[in-house]
Amino acid sequence: MDRILIQGGRRLEGDVEVSGAKNAVLPILAATLLTSGMSVVQGVPRLEDVRTMLRLLEHMGVTWRWPEVPTVRRADSDNARADVVNDFLAVDTTRVNTPEAPYDLVKTMRASILVLGPLLARYGRARVSLPGGCAIGARPINLHLKGLEALGAKIEIEHGYVTAYCERLMGGKVYFETITVTGTENLLMAASLAEGVTVIDNAAQEPEVVELARVLSRMGAKIEGAGTNTITVEGVPLLLPVEVKVMPDRIEAGTFMVAASITGGDVTLRNARAEHLEAVIAKLGEAGAQIERQADGLRVIAPEPIRSTDIRTSPFPGFATDMQAQFMALMTLASGTSRISETVFENRFMHVSELQRMGADITVEAGIAVVRGVPRLSGAPVMATDLRASACLVLAGLAAEGTTEISRVYHLDRGYERIEEKLSRLGAEIRREKAAGS
Ligand code: EPZ
Repeated sequence: MDRILIQGGRRLEGDVEVSGAKNAVLPILAATLLTSGMSVVQGVPRLEDVRTMLRLLEHMGVTWRWPEVPTVRRADSDNARADVVNDFLAVDTTRVNTPEAPYDLVKTMRASILVLGPLLARYGRARVSLPGGCAIGARPINLHLKGLEALGAKIEIEHGYVTAYCERLMGGKVYFETITVTGTENLLMAASLAEGVTVIDNAAQEPEVVELARVLSRMGAKIEGAGTNTITVEGVPLLLPVEVKVMPDRIEAGTFMVAASITGGDVTLRNARAEHLEAVIAKLGEAGAQIERQADGLRVIAPEPIRSTDIRTSPFPGFATDMQAQFMALMTLASGTSRISETVFENRFMHVSELQRMGADITVEAGIAVVRGVPRLSGAPVMATDLRASACLVLAGLAAEGTTEISRVYHLDRGYERIEEKLSRLGAEIRREKAAGS
């Protein structure tokens, strides 16, 4: 397994391009199953989770074409920034013949559950492996299934698989007692082809949900209210292939905002969208960072000193749970004590023990991490446990004295495109050590 080595203490400066949003691309790729023909998606990040979704679609009969390395137009004289010119992923769903998502693929990426709604809506049947839990929690899919049953699906669970079928999905009322992002996305896709009107109450309002609704509407769906807690979908008989460009990844952007803040840096994030990051901007402001909103991005000037502040994660527009670990890394070096409460997942503090090995002073009491700032962190060998915990360890390593060695970086590769390349271009001393034989 690859490792990442960081020599801490370098100040990050310069510009960085934010890649396309992983959590927007995954539902958009699933949505291509709702139609027959060639859809084209631009700006898809080269991530392990995207490759897994493509393997899953291929298993069903989908074909796709995507240049392994995007070619870049040379920046001409008056264009300071080179453009990526052939960064198109073409997905052809003309010959889908196996509405099934097998365990060996689903177990590596729980977002595979996003194919359930589209398969049911388009083919009237689907067999999808139960995703099972993951490091950050049990992560059940009961609300997905309950929502699809409300649209008339017959659902059975046996031998670790969900088997779903229906003559035709019918519009209905869906209420999510817990806000669920992929649950809302599954129901949005299923309702788009159902007969009649579906109302989704207590829907997730994440920007990725709004993006999926935008793409579905471009395919011919009739959706009102995306981005609010009540979404109304009027089913249509047919959806058409689509050409879209993916929105930027707000969690990658937030991660780089913390990278600038924790290294005393000054970094401009090209393509970041402030309206997706208001909670993170507010909290970094409380920590003393200066955030400048620009026409095509955000500039972050590090706080000096870093001030402590409290966070409590919650669904959008609250502070994203996917930014909790990264922000905790920053708070380990704040002057004062911060209280960090994670309300979305039941086990998302596994980065705490690794940060403690780097000298952080953190105690977890009744689901709240109490972080007492220390003057410095010291580099150490640490282990990534999940996607955002690994990002947290990279951030801590950038600020720590000495060398930090992060193992199991496959977690990182699921959600960050070329992170060590982007960070070293900003001045970090970071490199990847390929595992022998890989
Ligand atoms: C999405 O996961 C994201 N993944 C996660 O990002 C993100 O952390 C999460 O939303 C919360 O924002 C994708 O979009 C692919 P949920 P999802 O359903 O949809 C409970 C990352 O780092 N729940 O909103 O799986 C669940 O246990 C990943 O990129 C049920 O009880 O999360 C959790 O406590 C990690 N029953 C809460 O709801 C259900 O049927 C929110 O989960 C579904 C969810």
